[in-house]
Amino acid sequence: MAAVDSELAPEETRSTAYAGKIFREIQEVIDDTKGEAGALIRVLQQAQGLIGYLPAPVIKTISRDLKVPLSEVYGIISFYHFFSTVPKGRHVIQVCMGTSCYVKGGQRILDTLRKEWDLEPEGITADGRFSLETVRCLGCCGLSPVMAVGSDVHGKVKASRLNDILDLYK
Ligand code: FES
Repeated sequence: MAAVDSELAPEETRSTAYAGKIFREIQEVIDDTKGEAGALIRVLQQAQGLIGYLPAPVIKTISRDLKVPLSEVYGIISFYHFFSTVPKGRHVIQVCMGTSCYVKGGQRILDTLRKEWDLEPEGITADGRFSLETVRCLGCCGLSPVMAVGSDVHGKVKASRLNDILDLYK
């Protein structure tokens, strides 16, 4: 088994036994898949499954130990929508900023989330309850402005009613 560079452990969890366990598990997947076709994607999936997202130190470890250039690893991560380099909340909010939604108030929704929930695009609330993404079209433009919380789609969203919607998700 290759050694894991402790400098690569995430700052917030470096000293915990839990972080060590996670890194050992990722290392085992790396060792098991080295040289196999599709090894990179498999390791990234396992790492994200364990941590919930792909922190930079983990990406560097994977790049180093699979001997895949860092730029290539990031290329794969950005190509596949299901990979994320930022932590996700328990509930992921997607605000549509496609043309129809933008014109009908998408920006007001984002402004309200920023002001009242301290939530920026690609950000997460301090309690981990919500994270926020912007998307180009959720496929129901007739309901603009649209946002989704997890798999629930909310249409004709008024910024003034945002709290009522988010209160549904604990
Ligand atoms: S532009 Fe928002 S749902 Fe299509």
